Amino acid sequence: MLLSSVLPAAALLVQQAWAQAADPTSSYYATGVPTDTPVPGNYTDYLRPRVHFSPPRYFMNDPNGMHRDPSGTWHIYYQYNPLTPVAGNQHWGHATSKDLYTWENQKIAVWPPNNYTYVFSGSAVIDSNNTSGFFPDQDNGVVAVYTLAEYPGGEAGIQYQAIAYSRDDGYTFEAYDRNPVLNINSTQFRDPYVIWHEPSRHWVMVIAYAAEYVIGVYTSPDLKEWTHASNFTKHGYLGTQYECPNLLQMPMKGGDPVWFLVISLNPGGPRGGSISQYFVGDFNGTHFEPFDDATRFTDFGKDNYAAQFFHNVPANEPQIALGWASNWQYTQLVPTGLLEHGQFRSAMTVPREHYIANVSARGYDLISGIHNVSAIIDEELAFNSSLGNGTILAYFGDVPSGAFYLEANITNLTSTLQGTANFTISSSVSGEYISGGINAAGSPGIWVDRGHIRGFDNPYFTDKFSEEGVLAPNSTTWSLSLLYDNSILEMFLNGAQQAGTVTFFPERRLDTLAIYVGGIPESAGSSVAVWSLKDTWAPQADGNGTVRGNVTDGATGSMKMF
Ligand SMILES: *[C@@H]1O[C@H](CO)[C@@H](O)[C@H](O)[C@H]1NC(C)=O
Ligand SMILES: *[C@@H]1O[C@H](CO)[C@@H](O)[C@H](O)[C@H]1NC(C)=O
Ligand SMILES: *[C@@H]1O[C@H](CO)[C@@H](O)[C@H](O)[C@H]1NC(C)=O
Ligand SMILES: *[C@@H]1O[C@H](CO)[C@@H](O)[C@H](O)[C@H]1NC(C)=O
Ligand SMILES: *[C@@H]1O[C@H](CO)[C@@H](O)[C@H](O)[C@H]1NC(C)=O
Ligand SMILES: *[C@@H]1O[C@H](CO)[C@@H](O)[C@H](O)[C@H]1NC(C)=O
Ligand SMILES: *[C@@H]1O[C@H](CO)[C@@H](O)[C@H](O)[C@H]1NC(C)=O
Ligand SMILES: *[C@@H]1O[C@H](CO)[C@@H](O)[C@H](O)[C@H]1NC(C)=O
Ligand SMILES: *[C@@H]1O[C@H](CO)[C@@H](O)[C@H](O)[C@H]1NC(C)=O
Ligand SMILES: *[C@@H]1O[C@H](CO)[C@@H](O)[C@H](O)[C@H]1NC(C)=O
Ligand SMILES: *[C@@H]1O[C@H](CO)[C@@H](O)[C@H](O)[C@H]1NC(C)=O
Ligand SMILES: *[C@@H]1O[C@H](CO)[C@@H](O)[C@H](O)[C@H]1NC(C)=O
Repeated sequence: MLLSSVLPAAALLVQQAWAQAADPTSSYYATGVPTDTPVPGNYTDYLRPRVHFSPPRYFMNDPNGMHRDPSGTWHIYYQYNPLTPVAGNQHWGHATSKDLYTWENQKIAVWPPNNYTYVFSGSAVIDSNNTSGFFPDQDNGVVAVYTLAEYPGGEAGIQYQAIAYSRDDGYTFEAYDRNPVLNINSTQFRDPYVIWHEPSRHWVMVIAYAAEYVIGVYTSPDLKEWTHASNFTKHGYLGTQYECPNLLQMPMKGGDPVWFLVISLNPGGPRGGSISQYFVGDFNGTHFEPFDDATRFTDFGKDNYAAQFFHNVPANEPQIALGWASNWQYTQLVPTGLLEHGQFRSAMTVPREHYIANVSARGYDLISGIHNVSAIIDEELAFNSSLGNGTILAYFGDVPSGAFYLEANITNLTSTLQGTANFTISSSVSGEYISGGINAAGSPGIWVDRGHIRGFDNPYFTDKFSEEGVLAPNSTTWSLSLLYDNSILEMFLNGAQQAGTVTFFPERRLDTLAIYVGGIPESAGSSVAVWSLKDTWAPQADGNGTVRGNVTDGATGSMKMF
């Protein structure tokens, strides 16, 4: 997905209209984009996240096609412009991982059919029963379902849905020769997300009629023929357009799995720009009915958009998603790296595990915590299991990754909500800092302030975010966790109950952490630990610091032996 309005005209390489659609199976390979190897990347810049995925170079936005293949490898595809550091020339970039943190770049997976069409967002499913007929001899075939957006003459044209299939576990795709599979002659119809609905034994697609605030539900026996089944119209916050719906089953604490519909909206979110909202309810194969019509947001920060949930995670397990850690208001303006030659723009969030629980008075809280952080923990930087009211200072300027994880547990509070825990992360060179914390007393809430970071400023790059009403009124414990990664901070209340994602662009690398706990009664406990994180990219770099990704010629990503 992305909006024509956010595509700067200058970014469009496509200048001319072509009266006849090209062969639907053809591909357009822009000059300068490698077709047989991944785009090489330099992940050494001080702004580069080291435990988050970011593209090898230039511009990335939404996650697409996310699935876990039958061998257990996680695949992310992503909206990718491999030519310039702004949106445009959209392809599906691709990377794979065994642990959802260490990502191996793969060659671009889905290419546009011609030079006036972009490949927009979509999803991918494993067609294990060969419903599509593309996979007569295998049960691990992958079908990608995505939007093709035409820009004849550089102007936004129609958006229609196409499919492509992969017989090699999602590394290379071939376009279906009868594309499009769904075309309603609309200029605002995009971002199909497809699941298999077992009780009805059919495929289900949710898709945005973006400008009409409608999420359409379509069904199909074979991923080729799609029938309209229902519309979910004008629910929750409207903003300017709906995009990137996901519909899936999710565990509910203390109950049966529930159905979860998340809708991203942009622009016009309540914090400015892009935001995602969710609904919890029932789905019977054709109709989604929310349990209530409240609007709930997935994140209290401003930099977590268009998250996509991986396919092939059982419905009774926490559902895993990555979001695009940016916001259309400023994503094309933020610094791209020290050398300012367009090294990269945008990262994904870390993998988050999700379920639904009734925790706050609002109910149906989305629990969105970090997936298996132990996979990236390196060394303990500080630990005090009985800090009481107190301060911990930790210098992390010599941590190679520049990244850390912090946990502060406040326990054994006597009655109502008590205590505060604040942090400041600063540069001892420039004095810049980002701060935040939890204030459990008074008006209980969680907050963050990126306004004292100086490498990027813009009227829309809002400084301060907070969320209130998130702690259960009778709770006697609470916790704060932080995942800090050079230009992105993810913070969590009670492990996962409220998540806030903010990006920031310091002039100098930040190197000093301070955490302050205060206002807790004598009988209470506070335990704080900080660990440095690994650099998941450095071990993949060659002697010049270049990450080349999977350059083997085998399609399966296995190591080349000779
Ligand atoms: C697009 O492709 C057409 C047909 O091959 C070609 O004539 C035209 O110059 C191309 N335009 C751009 C902007 O590359
Ligand atoms: C990679 O980027 C760093 C800056 O972070 C720069 O010093 C280095 O020369 C770059 N390496 C290559 C191979 O471009
Ligand atoms: C595949 O077929 C099995 C057995 O009929 C059925 O239970 C399952 O739902 C099907 N799954 C898909 C993805 O088609
Ligand atoms: C598609 O929509 C355009 C613009 O509204 C209209 O001019 C055109 O006739 C439509 N095409 C079809 C096939 O309906
Ligand atoms: C669903 O919504 C779309 C977009 O507003 C509309 O064109 C279509 O007629 C609706 N379908 C039904 C059955 O209401
Ligand atoms: C699904 O729900 C809709 C709306 O309530 C209803 O019309 C339809 O019959 C239901 N389908 C099934 C299979 O229960
Ligand atoms: C907190 O209050 C809620 C609602 O009144 C209640 O369900 C829950 O059991 C209480 N929890 C504790 C730890 O007292
Ligand atoms: C944390 O910050 C809040 C808000 O500024 C403040 O009220 C509180 O006193 C601070 N707590 C500590 C321990 O510094
Ligand atoms: C923490 O400070 C508060 C005053 O802000 C005080 O009432 C409390 O006794 C102190 N707690 C501990 C454990 O010293
Ligand atoms: C909290 O209280 C329990 C008993 O109620 C005690 O076992 C535990 O040590 C206390 N923890 C702290 C950190 O004070
Ligand atoms: C915080 O509490 C969690 C859950 O009880 C525990 O796993 C973790 O080790 C604690 N962390 C610290 C720093 O005490
Ligand atoms: C590093 O760059 C130099 C100069 O471009 C080149 O000669 C050398 O082969 C490169 N080394 C690697 C490991 O790619």
